[in-house]
Amino acid sequence: MKSVVIREPNNLVIEQRPLPVPAAGEVRVKVKLAGICGSDSHIYRGHNPFAKYPRVIGHEFFGIIDAVGDGVDKKRIGERVSVDPVISCGECYPCSIGKPNVCTSLVVLGVHRDGGFSQYATVPAKNAFTIPDAISDKHAVMIEPFTIAANVTGQAAPRENDVALIYGAGPMGLTTVQALKGVNNVKQIIVADRIDERLAMAKNCGADWVINNGQQSLQDFLAEKGLKPTLIVDAACHPSILQEAIGLASPAARIVLMGFSSDPCQIIQQGITGKELSIFSSRLNANKFPTVIEWLQKGLIDPDKLITHAFDYQHVIDAIEVFEKDQRKCCKVLLTFSD
Ligand code: NAI
Repeated sequence: MKSVVIREPNNLVIEQRPLPVPAAGEVRVKVKLAGICGSDSHIYRGHNPFAKYPRVIGHEFFGIIDAVGDGVDKKRIGERVSVDPVISCGECYPCSIGKPNVCTSLVVLGVHRDGGFSQYATVPAKNAFTIPDAISDKHAVMIEPFTIAANVTGQAAPRENDVALIYGAGPMGLTTVQALKGVNNVKQIIVADRIDERLAMAKNCGADWVINNGQQSLQDFLAEKGLKPTLIVDAACHPSILQEAIGLASPAARIVLMGFSSDPCQIIQQGITGKELSIFSSRLNANKFPTVIEWLQKGLIDPDKLITHAFDYQHVIDAIEVFEKDQRKCCKVLLTFSD
């Protein structure tokens, strides 16, 4: 089989590898579609502190089970599946309270273990979620990015009367907007970004107001409109955003952080306790695949609104370059895998 391998930072090759044999409890997935995420590009460029090389990248992928290991029902062969990249021990404290996404021995496919940018991938059987026939391949490959939004909304418990402010209209901001609007029926959603084309996508995904906060003060905009955000999601992830969000938040608001920056960020504690704000963080997803499959079945979200490009996997370098360089036109880039 052919696999997309990052041998070391900035060295991507399409390598011939032996067909993997699923171990006990695993299935082998013949990959059909995969999605490119920022972390794939970070591993490629050597900016992901968790990655070990060489690595087959890719943690958003969909395909068909074509072999099973011992202990897995052979009837699963032929199933269409989307793969949850989060592999957890099931026994540690976070696992015991339903947070396998921060398992003390967390393994993420495509980061700590070889992932899905490959013609075949072996994964634990319980990570391969059956996709109902009514969900298209293209929607199935988008489940993982929407699970990130499901995890965010799972932390913050949005209400219809929330005034939601989302920083960032990249894939993460846009999945969050769709979840807030389509699933939680939040009536007032504001999205701030620096790129007008992305703000247009945010509108298309359900934002009620968009603001280019590179050109206009967000504080002035909110004051003009009389909006006091009660739920703020930082999907732009610059360290300066938290203190600004604390200042803009309504008393009793919730703030959800998604960023992994290692740069210090200065905050004034009084701003938090004075308004009794709740600050959550959200990493990957905790058992959210069934949730998003249900959202898709009910038509509450529309992944098509994020997909801008598709490339054959053999053109993966071009695909990653478009993804990295053209944020105006590019949002979600898919890779197709053929024989
Ligand atoms: P992206 O880079 O495509 O989008 C970020 C957007 O934020 C861009 O459109 C950019 O113009 C905008 N932005 C930057 N600074 C801003 C500011 N000060 N105010 C408003 N907008 C600003 O990235 P993507 O894929 O949407 O991911 C967003 C962030 O989420 C990344 O930092 C990523 O590391 C993080 N992430 C976190 C996950 C988690 O589970 N916690 C999972 C996936 C991504």
